[in-house]
Amino acid sequence: MAAIGSSVGLGNIWKFPYMIGTGGGSAFMLVYMVCVLGVGLPILMAELALGRMGRQGPIETLVTLGRRYSGRAAWGLVGCVGVLAAVLILSFYSVVAGWSLAYIPKLLTGQMTGLSGADTGKAFNDFLADPWALTFWHALFMLLTIIPVARGIQAGIEKAVVWMMPLLFALLVVLCVYAGVEGNFVAGMTYLFKPDFDAVTWDVVLAATGQAFFSLSIGLGTMLAYGAYLPGGVSIPRTSVVIVLAAILTAVLAGTAIFPIVFANGLDPSAGPGLVFVTLTVAFGAMPGGEIFGAVFFVLLAIAALTSSVSLLEPIVAAFAGRTGLSRSALAWIGGIVAWLLGFLTLFSFNIWSDVHPLGGTRTWFDWIDYLTSNILLPLGGVMLALFAGWVVTREDSVKALGFENPTFYRVWRLLVRVVAPVGVVAAVVSNLA
Ligand code: PHE
Repeated sequence: MAAIGSSVGLGNIWKFPYMIGTGGGSAFMLVYMVCVLGVGLPILMAELALGRMGRQGPIETLVTLGRRYSGRAAWGLVGCVGVLAAVLILSFYSVVAGWSLAYIPKLLTGQMTGLSGADTGKAFNDFLADPWALTFWHALFMLLTIIPVARGIQAGIEKAVVWMMPLLFALLVVLCVYAGVEGNFVAGMTYLFKPDFDAVTWDVVLAATGQAFFSLSIGLGTMLAYGAYLPGGVSIPRTSVVIVLAAILTAVLAGTAIFPIVFANGLDPSAGPGLVFVTLTVAFGAMPGGEIFGAVFFVLLAIAALTSSVSLLEPIVAAFAGRTGLSRSALAWIGGIVAWLLGFLTLFSFNIWSDVHPLGGTRTWFDWIDYLTSNILLPLGGVMLALFAGWVVTREDSVKALGFENPTFYRVWRLLVRVVAPVGVVAAVVSNLA
């Protein structure tokens, strides 16, 4: 449950739709599905299994297993890079989750009622232009993340996921129905699902690969940390399939709800990070009871974000817990505050630093942090974990750790983590950098 909560979050509901929009629609969808199933799923299994074998923090687990199987503690470095990625992701995640918190009162008080797409776009831009407001919501969300992690989270998170997830699905389905009736459903579905192989470029492949890692929370140690808590009897293949299905389903529902409304209102599918906020508020503003409905939606989105953000802070805490002598709670506060401060790079990217392009080009600080984490650090971290599980861990031990009921599935898994995933991901990253 906690791992589902980790994977389903802003990545599937906020990021996926706008990535589709900037990645050319169905081409992105197609590659994303291939990546999630062919690369993400086997690596997720590997990461959970390694976590359960090590039963320590992510760095410690890799050090121990590295020593056991290869005599090399240097595998721990993969965990260190993962911790860096977790801090960077948490920094922007909290800013965006703060937007979601801010939209709760905006909807509840009727500020969005009856607005056109142009109006909701303007409202969103005005909101982003105010760094103080963003700072408040960013701080509030980070506090909400730190407190449960400082206290030791499992029970609370699992309970939250149990009731939040079905409600979130139900609400997304209602939104899809609304989009089907009131939106331009045909245009939306064509855009999402009509295969367009010509639009598949290396950029799209890398972006979709990165999104697969981001949306499944793999490649940085979150699932190593969560695997460490997984009881021995739980089937890792089955757990992983459920996590992947939940992630895909939410992403597809979010896309199905959003794009018909985009096309019916003449909005721009490639509008970027504001897409969800601008599009769905048009729908909420037009439907009866939309104030309540919209507020509930953003509450659920914030909770979905929270069950992900704690899973970013948890590996940071777990990584340092044994090494520093500091308490869990001290580490949660330190990690959270560092990420909060780093978050200002993202926060200012949407207002006073929107014209600042570190390293030239067109990318803002936010764009760079997003690119570096999703497109480089997570894929490469994931590949290292795949290689470790496939080549370094002995065959007997990986058979035992994964517990596949069907030997053919095990063989397929092994082929994917040994060869297919590493070659595919490295090709995508290298071709893009080149
Ligand atoms: N998977 C989360 C989401 O989709 C984000 C995340 C990435 C969480 C990496 C933990 C680790 O929103």
